[in-house]
Amino acid sequence: MAARVSASRETPAFLAACLRQPVPYRPIWIMRQAGRYLPEYRALRAKVNFEALTRTPDLAAEVTLQPLRRFELDAAILFSDIMTPLQGMGVDLAFEPGPVVREPIRTDAQIEALPALVPQRDVPFVLETIRLVRANMPRLAPLIGFAGAPFTLLCYLVCGRPSKEFAAARTFLYAQPHAAQRLLERLADAMAEYLAAQARAGAQALMLFESWAGLLAPREFEQFALPAVRRTAAALRRTGVPLIYYVNQGSTLMPAVAQLDVDVVGVDWRSGLSAVRRVLGPGKAVQGNLDPAALFAPAAELRRHVDAVLEEAGEAPGHIFNLGHGIWPDTDPDSVARLVDYVHERR
Ligand code: CP3
Repeated sequence: MAARVSASRETPAFLAACLRQPVPYRPIWIMRQAGRYLPEYRALRAKVNFEALTRTPDLAAEVTLQPLRRFELDAAILFSDIMTPLQGMGVDLAFEPGPVVREPIRTDAQIEALPALVPQRDVPFVLETIRLVRANMPRLAPLIGFAGAPFTLLCYLVCGRPSKEFAAARTFLYAQPHAAQRLLERLADAMAEYLAAQARAGAQALMLFESWAGLLAPREFEQFALPAVRRTAAALRRTGVPLIYYVNQGSTLMPAVAQLDVDVVGVDWRSGLSAVRRVLGPGKAVQGNLDPAALFAPAAELRRHVDAVLEEAGEAPGHIFNLGHGIWPDTDPDSVARLVDYVHERR
């Protein structure tokens, strides 16, 4: 796709890789890098619940920066949740610890009643957190803003709580396809507003999490999830910041994802990056895709697994090292330090 911004000599490695520019070393950050595997996060969390953390800008900014103080990470990601903007739209939900929606959304009336999101009014604390992170960034590491992709948000809104099969959400697509499309459009517009506001507040890249893409066959992915992401991506083109689309369990969906106008595709650990890059073509960068479980391997083994990911990613510009999904809470932070250092050494 056409680059949203052009890189200069001072472009940080993470942003250069998003734009498929040459980099002096392989940039790396880690999905869920701010969180429970860090003792300093657990210490704060013992005193303040998750929601209060996300709503208090100086605390949310502190948690965002914690992993950057400990590791030489190449990007920060905003500390928040994919459900936070929905709360701002009046959806009554709690984190237990996964999001639980008290009145799942399943009727036309509920969908029509969902208001538009006005970020400055509804989630001002998110924008303030972004400004604080940018002001206190310890070194030249870009800040990633994020949102849930519309279909993934639909899964939580329709089912009401995390689930393995998300049966109610999948049923909804087949039983009420028009209502589903309407809900997806509303969510696509709300997330476009939300991410554009994050970019204006200072987010230097934007990421959409499609954590539940793997629930769908390619046909349903193309019918429901993809048009919604296309709608959000089109609205964001004018922000001028790179857009990352993370597709979990998306190996069969990559031909469809290749049609999207996004800069980077995030890939879980189940597919090899060389095959993914072949399908996506030269116009997209990739991000991933070490199995979070690999962080439990002995140090020498971990290096072998890193080598394998780098080999698959190849030499062409446009690879950001990451895990294939979020880091597990029982991961040893020393293993993360070894991972980050090794990826950087291996130029
Ligand atoms: O470091 C970071 O990545 C930034 C913060 C972040 C959180 N959630 C904090 C959080 C991000 C990017 C998310 C995104 C998110 N939230 C996703 C997409 C990424 C993915 O993992 O697929 C999803 C599906 C959610 C929904 C969600 N929120 C779940 C399933 C849970 C509970 C279980 C879990 O994985 O932690 C949450 C709560 C949540 N969000 C916590 C954190 C740190 C745990 C809260 C606590 O401290 O108890």
